[in-house]
Amino acid sequence: MSSNTNNHTASNQTTSRTILVTSALPYANGPIHIGHLVEYIQTDIWVRFQRLYGSTCYYVCADDAHGTPIMLRAQDTGISPEALIEQIAKEHRTDFADFHIGFDNYHTTHSDENRHYANLIYSRLRERGHIVARNIHHAFDPEKQIFLPDRFIRGECPRCGAKDQYGDSCEACGATYSPSDLKNPVSVLSGATPVDKESEHYFVRLSDFSDMLHTWVNGHKRFPAVQPEIANKLEEWFQAGLKDWDISRDAPYFGFEIPDAPGKYFYVWLDAPIGYMASFQDLCTREGLDFDAFWGVDSDVELYHFIGKDIAYFHTLFWPAQLHGAGFRAPSAVFCHGFLTVDGQKMSKSRGTFIKARTYLDYLNPEYLRYYFACKLTNGIEDLDLNQEDFIQRVNADLVGKVVNIASRCAGFITKRFAGQLADKLDVPELYEAFVDQGDTIAGFFNAREFGKAVREIMALADRANQYIDERKPWVLAKEADKEEELQSICTMGINLFRVLMIYLKPVLPVTAKKVEVFLRMSVSHWDDRKTPLLDRPINPFVPLMQRVDKVAVATMVDASREELQPKEIPSAKPKIEPIARMISIEDFARVDLRIARIESAEPVPDADKLLRLVLDIGDSSRGTVFAGIKGAYAPEDLIGRLTVVVANLAPRKMRFGVSEGMVLAAGPGGKDIWLLGVDSGAEPGMRVK
Ligand code: 2FM
Ligand code: ZN
Repeated sequence: MSSNTNNHTASNQTTSRTILVTSALPYANGPIHIGHLVEYIQTDIWVRFQRLYGSTCYYVCADDAHGTPIMLRAQDTGISPEALIEQIAKEHRTDFADFHIGFDNYHTTHSDENRHYANLIYSRLRERGHIVARNIHHAFDPEKQIFLPDRFIRGECPRCGAKDQYGDSCEACGATYSPSDLKNPVSVLSGATPVDKESEHYFVRLSDFSDMLHTWVNGHKRFPAVQPEIANKLEEWFQAGLKDWDISRDAPYFGFEIPDAPGKYFYVWLDAPIGYMASFQDLCTREGLDFDAFWGVDSDVELYHFIGKDIAYFHTLFWPAQLHGAGFRAPSAVFCHGFLTVDGQKMSKSRGTFIKARTYLDYLNPEYLRYYFACKLTNGIEDLDLNQEDFIQRVNADLVGKVVNIASRCAGFITKRFAGQLADKLDVPELYEAFVDQGDTIAGFFNAREFGKAVREIMALADRANQYIDERKPWVLAKEADKEEELQSICTMGINLFRVLMIYLKPVLPVTAKKVEVFLRMSVSHWDDRKTPLLDRPINPFVPLMQRVDKVAVATMVDASREELQPKEIPSAKPKIEPIARMISIEDFARVDLRIARIESAEPVPDADKLLRLVLDIGDSSRGTVFAGIKGAYAPEDLIGRLTVVVANLAPRKMRFGVSEGMVLAAGPGGKDIWLLGVDSGAEPGMRVK
């Protein structure tokens, strides 16, 4: 494997490579699920393989902590965004650790290092004339006083008329459009109709980097930086012309304020990939590594980003341009993968196939999923399917039935008949050599991210090993008096073939591989360790290395996933208490004008079951009419003269029976269980309620 080559076999590696690898940064507003895990498992296997093969390979990641959805989620939860991202980061770290994802560093984009590099990259781009400022029009929520990302606007599809569609695309007919094309748009935050508002934004002039991007895609450092399907997509984007990239957002926003631009923030996608650098910087500080040797423009280090195909645009256009424009090196390559389907369909909450990492871990061994994904992964971008039956079958048949079985068929004899001592020679050295030789092909597949092919080769060897044991029948020899030596040599052979297979599987099954090292009393630190068989030395008694997948555990996990995503309705005879609504800020609250009102008159509304028409005295001889749904609880005559509290600045609403000019405050689930807010008779109409 020559350095700087990502598709060749690994057989002829002469020099040691230095590699920096990243996986995409998960958003800090939700849990890790099995769809995410495709990428982290893919990257982790690749990194573990490179290390075992002798490369120096660093693997960094971080939480992607900025942006409007995180800000709003924190508001909804009633906590600060900082508290939210800290809590989520803890969960992410634990989930990754429990799936044996071996990051060298896991950081956050909301960090000093990230602010430093975001500011640096932005200021260099600006100094070099790549930033332009321009006024744009954008949808604004007049109630929440916030510019709305496309996904926060819903309305009717301009093409097919389907209701309740997102601001950027229609799920019914697949049309894509801009939010201003939607019919009857509403803000999902407040229900208000968005208004068009102008604001100054900053843009990176991407067309400045056309030539550089062309060269990078097609042959940076002598090999393509992207897969063929992505190169085709890029060609389409090049043909369409590279548009300026909007990198700023207006307050309120959770992110980094742009230097010298108060109230303007870096768009989350500007500082997200910079998080790769920030995480690596954090590692450099801790371990004394030289940051510039990895990110400097002349760096020889290989830099690879593993990502999902949906975010190729950000990583293959914006990111290399950002880096190049600011005087850093570009990535050596960006490796895209496809999406996960479960039983042939998109992951679904109602089917229970939207499985969180934690739910999986509650029921199943993480190495099952690592192995299953390895079986399915290629170096392409096609989607991969997790079929539940196939999952159970593969893990049980391959890992338990084939691989572990080899050891369990031989180890007992070594322990019981030879006091744990291996023979001093192999029964069939040529077969052992064949297993060793196959290591070059398997390494080539791992290096080229063709994990499915690597696994198939390994399982073909496992079949050969079992076939060998079937032919040599140690259990028959064990009954014959003069076959001791042969028996020991056959079992030693079986154990050594098993060991070679476990070296090949070590990147996929790191924990089982470790258990095997303890069992064989010999650790494995290099792919080449396979070349030296274990002879004339003791091993420990065999302990079960892996249990079969329990079908019931899989079914229970699916049920649990279905349940945890259902809204929880607790049946109760008591009146229902509605959940506390979305948090509002103190400023929002201050805008509500609450006043004391005296009910001057109250009368039923003809043809309305629940309504009373109230005329209220709200001080200074102002009168207002309010339609209140309290008829089930109060007789009109009981209300006259009472003091209550009213929202005095509610915009008048036209109802079927007339215009309602305010709202009286009451509590209760409805019907006769409504209690109008009462006020002591000392209060005067028109007084403000604080
Ligand atoms: O799509 C996502 O989930 C993003 N949070 C990925 C960011 S990757 C990198 F650019 F930071
Ligand atoms: Zn449509």
